Amino acid sequence: MAQENSRNHSTELSKSAELYQRALKIMPGGCSRNTVLRKPHPLYAERGEGCYVTDVEGVERIDFANNMASLIHGHAHPEIVSAVTQQMQKGTAFTLATEVEIRYAEQLCGRSSGFEKMRFVNSGTEAVMSCLKAARAYTGRPKIAKVEGAYHGLYDYAEVSRTAKPANWGELEKPASVAVAHGTPASALEDVVVIPFNDVEHAITILDQHADELACVLVDPLPHRVGLVPADKQFVSALHQWTRDNSALLVYDEVISFRSNYGGAQEWYDVRPDLTALGKMIGGGFPVGALAGRAEIMDVMNPLAEKVLFPHSGTFSANPVTMTAGLVAMELFDEAAVQKLNELAGYARSQIAEAIRIADIPACVSGGGSMFRVHMKAEAPPNYRAAFVSPRELKLTNMLLDHLFDNGIMMINTCSGALSTVMTAKEIDILSEVMLGGFRKIKTRMS
Ligand SMILES: Cc1ncc(COP(=O)(O)O)c(C=O)c1O
Repeated sequence: MAQENSRNHSTELSKSAELYQRALKIMPGGCSRNTVLRKPHPLYAERGEGCYVTDVEGVERIDFANNMASLIHGHAHPEIVSAVTQQMQKGTAFTLATEVEIRYAEQLCGRSSGFEKMRFVNSGTEAVMSCLKAARAYTGRPKIAKVEGAYHGLYDYAEVSRTAKPANWGELEKPASVAVAHGTPASALEDVVVIPFNDVEHAITILDQHADELACVLVDPLPHRVGLVPADKQFVSALHQWTRDNSALLVYDEVISFRSNYGGAQEWYDVRPDLTALGKMIGGGFPVGALAGRAEIMDVMNPLAEKVLFPHSGTFSANPVTMTAGLVAMELFDEAAVQKLNELAGYARSQIAEAIRIADIPACVSGGGSMFRVHMKAEAPPNYRAAFVSPRELKLTNMLLDHLFDNGIMMINTCSGALSTVMTAKEIDILSEVMLGGFRKIKTRMS
């Protein structure tokens, strides 16, 4: 933050610093989402166009964060802007249904054989919560199983163990159900069974201990916080088989990973989940969530049933602005666009790996589909415990993030990147060159 620091030494505050002083007076921490925080203060956006974002100081950066992997076509895509503008002129939300909801549901269900029916909600958190409640309603069972460290949003049950640390995560054979928020009811923790990622033996042993009580196993096929390493085929097959043998459901969280294939990361595997939570990119830049899956299970939400097992509603669910933006975004993200984007991300991962090799530092790059994550570790971490960032690794990662930011590149704060379809090899070459400079800087500090 060379530019920022030099401003801070003068008596005049930058526009962002001034805005943050106002924000601190009225919002806890001065914001509504912690992701925007930076030291000494967040930067405020002025505008975005394509894969570039300009802040209120007039500094432009290439955007590899894409609003936490949610903008698949970058900023202000002309076709989305035009469609949304037309819809906004007709109204933004009604106590009536709109046709665009049906058209969009048809589009999304057409992308995967596992999506027989679907419903829209307003966030990924709500999508995961609705999947878990649907699984409970369908099976009549209280517990859910989830992978240690995986992020699935803020629902009490889904967030268990997300922030587990060596001091409280317990034995590998039996990971502890660690609360995230103070005051989480003990009963919520008791109803969450935590399994290690990509470890069939331990996961199945743990699941067996709760066989009659589990409504579902929740898994993200490319869990960002667990290290952004894809789930092994054997792991997914074992979880699927276990759920078949024990009358439980397999639920995927594809809120991020859906971008990996036309029909989501689930196409990597031979088996299909019973339910899938969606979000982020399917909103075309607007707040969204959705759940899709087997008709028989989705029908627990059917208000026309004699007994409605899971009454489900939401004031802004399926609002026509989100539906319009999402429909255009997903029509544009066709098979060819997905493949092109994945190839570009493969190129990015190989260029970063090459920069690491040239700089000769103990770092690595993981990822899949159109995502990558840089770790200050020699090997890609196979699970949450291996991915856990030590204080020293955190310092080096932040050094790299600052170097990237100062040199015109925005990343997700775990040093992860999510590509958008408006990027080209030019932006990837800039990224890898700037990364090489960052790795060399780190090497100097290490010696
Ligand atoms: C895998 C995953 N699931 C769920 C969520 C929650 O989505 P939202 O922030 O839209 O509530 C996120 C958000 O980052 C996510 O990455």
